[in-house]
Amino acid sequence: MGNLTVTMTDVKGETSTFSDVDEGVSLMEVAKAHGVEGIFGDCGGGCSCATCHVYVSTDWMAKVGQPDDIEFGMLDMVSDVQQENSRLSCQIKMSAELDGVEVTVAPASAY
Ligand code: FES
Repeated sequence: MGNLTVTMTDVKGETSTFSDVDEGVSLMEVAKAHGVEGIFGDCGGGCSCATCHVYVSTDWMAKVGQPDDIEFGMLDMVSDVQQENSRLSCQIKMSAELDGVEVTVAPASAY
């Protein structure tokens, strides 16, 4: 068990904090492990389904960083994308630097 912390607000607006997160685990995997509503991760983390779309808290966006070109292309296909802070949570890997990161699950509008 890790000791990094992630706070997630699910698609219904319920916020949970998980403090047992391992380094190197993706936020999609954290959400799946804890049954966070609205995160499906259909492609298993391959950046090819967009069912793990989250909005990163704007305070955290500088540390989390922008999507790469492939992820950007996937995000382009979802209708609820927010230019400034949309990310695919399978592409965000936990690290000490991201300890305490906060994200909100995007409405599941892609499917
Ligand atoms: S799990 Fe499919 S794009 Fe993230």
